[in-house]
Amino acid sequence: MKKTVSQPSCFKSKTLFVLLIILFSAVSAQGQAILSGDRSVPVEAKNGMVVTSHTLATEVALEVLKKGGNAIDAAVTAGFALAVTQPRSGNIGGGGFMLISSQEKKDVTAIDYREKAPAGATKDMFLGADGNADPTLSRFSHISSGVPGTVAGFALALEKYGTISLAESLAPAIELAEKGFVVTPRFSKGVKSKQKRLFKFEAGKKKFLKPDGKFYEPGDIYIQADLAETLKRIAQNGTKGFYEGKTAEMIVAEMKKGSGLITLDDLKAYQPKIRKPVQGTYRGHDIYSMSTPSSGGAHIIQILNILEKYPIGNLGHNSAKTIHLTAEAMKHAFADRSKYLGDSDFVKVPLKGITSKKYAASQRAEIDPDFASISRNILPGDPVSFESNETTHFSIVDKFGNAVANTYTINFSYGSGIVVEGAGFLLNNEMDDFSAKPGTPNGYGLIGGEANKIEPHKRMLSSMSPTIVMKGGKNFLVAGSPGGSRIITTTLQVIMNVIDHNLNVQAAVNAPRIHHQWLPDELRIEEGISLDTVRLLEGMGHTVTEKSSMGAIQSIMVTADGTMFGGADPRRSTSAAMGF
Ligand code: DON
Repeated sequence: MKKTVSQPSCFKSKTLFVLLIILFSAVSAQGQAILSGDRSVPVEAKNGMVVTSHTLATEVALEVLKKGGNAIDAAVTAGFALAVTQPRSGNIGGGGFMLISSQEKKDVTAIDYREKAPAGATKDMFLGADGNADPTLSRFSHISSGVPGTVAGFALALEKYGTISLAESLAPAIELAEKGFVVTPRFSKGVKSKQKRLFKFEAGKKKFLKPDGKFYEPGDIYIQADLAETLKRIAQNGTKGFYEGKTAEMIVAEMKKGSGLITLDDLKAYQPKIRKPVQGTYRGHDIYSMSTPSSGGAHIIQILNILEKYPIGNLGHNSAKTIHLTAEAMKHAFADRSKYLGDSDFVKVPLKGITSKKYAASQRAEIDPDFASISRNILPGDPVSFESNETTHFSIVDKFGNAVANTYTINFSYGSGIVVEGAGFLLNNEMDDFSAKPGTPNGYGLIGGEANKIEPHKRMLSSMSPTIVMKGGKNFLVAGSPGGSRIITTTLQVIMNVIDHNLNVQAAVNAPRIHHQWLPDELRIEEGISLDTVRLLEGMGHTVTEKSSMGAIQSIMVTADGTMFGGADPRRSTSAAMGF
């Protein structure tokens, strides 16, 4: 077995995290006990549960629930707060997906606020003079940004399903930006590790360094005056406060510095969309997940369909047999992804086929229960140097029967690294999720085809998979993750851990994970899979590689009597589950 990366640092800082949690969350402003956990057991509550990747975002969203707001109000509040407290992935300069379940209306719906290609985008825009895709252009330049969707998506979520105003949802974020918050070790380390990306331009230095040019260190107070003003313009003028006027002009001025493509017209024309989630079943549960332009939901359902006929529970959690079968099913899904998936507003995606039980049966028939298949021999690139885990997911459940699973991103850690001068926020590098050239992998080693080629106004293919599992018509499990291609497999395994292996939600989140994405032909594992299991897998023909941790699931399970259990992922030192 190859072992490439040592234990993730977040595990080392667990003690510090526990102290922070205790510090932040003992008693709420109104004196009601807030229940939070140490991430070895799930947090249990009856009236509301919030799980995000940042304690402060969890806190402000929980406060909304406590004041009588619903899960959608809390989700938007958390989303804006994360844009302030976790700039590496929380954002207003990117996009994402929000899945909303209403038990009362018996309805699960999805808001697609994925970024779009600007009108000036062209199929070959990332090809260099040699005809090959230039990753610097698609990942770290002004043309790497799609038109941001987050602000419009959040506004639509509130308008359709919320009870508070956009201004109310922004108030905690504005306060956090204006008054500042205490810098965590994770924040400080993150900026230092990406300084090359962030300090290419003055606006990045202004945002991420102290006025004296020094780094923010743990314990410092981090204030973002420009971002506070940007958020206030949204609070005052709604979506127009972002997509038109001063902020829009600042985005366009930033574009002009680097031949960027986003115009005032692109911004004004951006519209989020209400989508029908993809739907499937697994061992008596109903699975709802994100449909195109995400590939995630379709492939989670496809893999579950393939695995459903195997006695996974009896084969054992993370046993060699279970891992083998799961990896083989993953290969089939990712092979399909490379050919068929794209924005269904532009291309016909065979979603029905991919998620059908019959199709799964035909793929299952190709799986050898004892030997690994060899992935097709397409030359993969080298995604490793661009790996990051910086999308962010949060899950929220309220006492009214609503559940929200939201995943949003600026793609890489700190996106393109380009801060909009004067506006104080980072732009995404989501254009890299298109296939720059058929057969050339993106930053996550994912190969795309014609279906995901660049076209003006098209949404780039995503793996983000906010998912809600229902049992007997009731919200049962809310989940989702960052991790690029690993989002799909990470979310899948938490579902399996709960349904097949009866793990509580915290144990399901904590358990070591595996990943196979067809190409490269390697079975990736996290630390914690036993060595004899690895040897059995190698004996079956798998190339097993242990790498750094995958994903960061923030999940909630609700039992039949309405008790909510929150599981925050220990792979993120700031993540926090709190309920009341
Ligand atoms: O939409 C996608 O699939 C990617 N842009 C997500 C990126 C991500 O998860 C970053 N973390 N690894």
